[in-house]
Amino acid sequence: MIESLNIELQGVRKSYDRPVLKDICLKVENYSYVTIVGKSGSGKSTLMNILGLIEGFDGGVYTFNDVVIKNDRDYSKLRSENIGFIFQSYNLIPTLTCRENIMLPTLYSKKKPADLDEIIDSLDIGGLLDKRVVLLSGGEKQRVAIARALLLNPSLIIADEPTGNLDRFNTQTVLDLLEKENKKGRAVIMITHDEAIAKRSKQVFTLKNGVLNENT
Ligand SMILES: Nc1ncnc2c1ncn2[C@@H]1O[C@H](COP(=O)(O)OP(=O)(O)OP(=O)(O)O)[C@@H](O)[C@H]1O
Ligand SMILES: [Mg+2]
Repeated sequence: MIESLNIELQGVRKSYDRPVLKDICLKVENYSYVTIVGKSGSGKSTLMNILGLIEGFDGGVYTFNDVVIKNDRDYSKLRSENIGFIFQSYNLIPTLTCRENIMLPTLYSKKKPADLDEIIDSLDIGGLLDKRVVLLSGGEKQRVAIARALLLNPSLIIADEPTGNLDRFNTQTVLDLLEKENKKGRAVIMITHDEAIAKRSKQVFTLKNGVLNENT
């Protein structure tokens, strides 16, 4: 079963040497499928890192399932139990086998893992499990990374350009998999530069000048 999810950003701000996010408002719940587009340097990854409880912010309110997020607390438990991350560069550990990579989240969390056989079947990675990641193609690596992201049965999938390094065929495979997980009730928040990919999502937002606006 997928746990209920309800997150909201209200007027969230973040500056580095200059303001990057000025007034971000966004609501995400089960079955949401949100794509964020915007120019390079517009703050998309910064926003994903804030949403993913990886980075703090300077002002505004972020609530994650009734928890009001503060900068000086540790949210690693909330993060590992609720969020699965997928990145353009896979972020797998190359010297470990696929199985070892997929099981990594169990080292950091006591949450009961999902059914591994089911994940392996749905991603068609059964033949890869005992291979080391260095030997895999890009599409294979991303399917293994998705398996790792799904292992603890997250209610939210955060994907920062998950198809950025993939060819057209593997891009379709990854998008199909994300849509399948979304239909089960998981929320997906994705960044892409590709308009055709953005069109497949339920909501598209553009990040520009530090503000997020829904495309209509
Ligand atoms: N840790 C940091 N310290 C200082 N500046 C940073 C840091 N992280 C990001 N920035 C700056 O914040 C701005 C937004 O960066 P971010 O990575 O969020 O952009 P992006 O929209 O994801 O870009 P891309 O499409 O190229 O991935 C950039 O100007 C970047 O240089
Ligand atoms: Mg980025």
